[in-house]
Amino acid sequence: MASSEADVLDRLGSGLRALGAWIDDRFPMTKLIKEHATEYYASKNFNVWYGFGILATFVLVLQLVTGIFLTMNYKPAAADAFASVEYIMRDVNWGWLIRYLHSTGASAFFIVVYLHMFRGLLYGSYKKPRELVWIIGMFIYLCLMAEGFFGYLLPWGNMSYWGAQVIVSLFGSIPVVGNGLSEWIRGDFFISDITLNRFFAFHVIAVPLMLVMLVVVHIMALHEVGSNNPDGIEIKEHKGPDGKPIDGVAFHPYHTSKDLVIIIVFLIAFAAVVFFAPDMGGYFLEHANFEPANQLQTPPEIAPVWYFTPFYAMLRAVPNKLAGVVLMGTAVLLPFFLPWLDRCRVKSIRYRGTVYKVALMVFAVSFIGLGYCGLQKPTEMVYLFCRIFTILYFAFFVLMPFYSRHEKTKPVPTRVTP
Ligand code: HEM
Repeated sequence: MASSEADVLDRLGSGLRALGAWIDDRFPMTKLIKEHATEYYASKNFNVWYGFGILATFVLVLQLVTGIFLTMNYKPAAADAFASVEYIMRDVNWGWLIRYLHSTGASAFFIVVYLHMFRGLLYGSYKKPRELVWIIGMFIYLCLMAEGFFGYLLPWGNMSYWGAQVIVSLFGSIPVVGNGLSEWIRGDFFISDITLNRFFAFHVIAVPLMLVMLVVVHIMALHEVGSNNPDGIEIKEHKGPDGKPIDGVAFHPYHTSKDLVIIIVFLIAFAAVVFFAPDMGGYFLEHANFEPANQLQTPPEIAPVWYFTPFYAMLRAVPNKLAGVVLMGTAVLLPFFLPWLDRCRVKSIRYRGTVYKVALMVFAVSFIGLGYCGLQKPTEMVYLFCRIFTILYFAFFVLMPFYSRHEKTKPVPTRVTP
């Protein structure tokens, strides 16, 4: 390299160092980078299940960015909303791509978050000392559901309209206050322009703000106690002479480089859906939503998007509306209590007893089964399976204190295994 080029690079390097020092005197930049990346030690045996947290963060950013661009051309008024989405799809430069990234991103978000939560069940990540990480995660999940629900009304398609109508009217089944409450949510006697306006406010400002804040708190809480791992061992308990966990590696660059591969693989699958099957056969964008909202005509089948159908199926399982609503609400809230329902001392499924392995498998099958049943036309058979899977879903949580206490576990190693 010519000496003049080396001089320029030298000067650039020392300039950047000086800028860094200037910022550090005024803001803990280097301290934060060290605490959360270069000196945050996480277990060296992370597997692919540990990639979904970073993927969820990635999808969150994707949704925020594409959402901002959609908002530039979307009109939150009953008279204009549907047409403005058509305008985005046909006339706005790259509008179709931005919209499909956002609509596919919504489904991808739920897929990633469901897998992220399942990892928690596999490795007991909700157990001491990570109870709060889990509880904050559950609040994130509730926000995510609210975000999906509010967002679904915005295209003002016929399914948007009737879906919102059905969900808001569920509040009407609450005794005494029910009708007033659903009127208060809608801001009108029926789903109207007013409802669309407030749902827009929630979808673009209130809920995303809460989501971002909760994710920051989620990661802060996690970094306070340290990440779990597929063996469910606390790596902080085995430190080397340098005071660092022997089984840990710095999050950056070791985990970030693996996470980058996971993000690339995810993006390949994601792009395949965005470019080749953006409506995913009616599962990601429902067919009835290609028609504008029509107060006088319900779609042939009113069903929520796939990520809500496990809970919708529970509603279907019970003939009484109020009982169905209570059951559905309880089902959503039950996982909050996991840290206290699970009495087993061993965290990871690798060393837990057969009873938990079977229970978790039955739970996963019943959750997927409920989701499937929620998407089917209502027949006697579908109702029957809705009921069976609902019972199994509840049994997993309610019986947990009993079956987890007497579980026959395997000895847990002191150091992590590959
Ligand atoms: C927007 C949604 C979410 C984002 C962006 C997010 C982000 C993250 C990140 C980056 C991590 C660290 C990396 C990893 O362990 O995968 C993490 C860990 C964790 N998250 Fe989330 N999360 C989200 C939702 C949830 C939900 C809904 C739950 C559960 C109800 C949850 C529970 C946990 C737990 C228990 C850990 C610690 C896991 C361990 O150390 O084994 N998260 N999250």
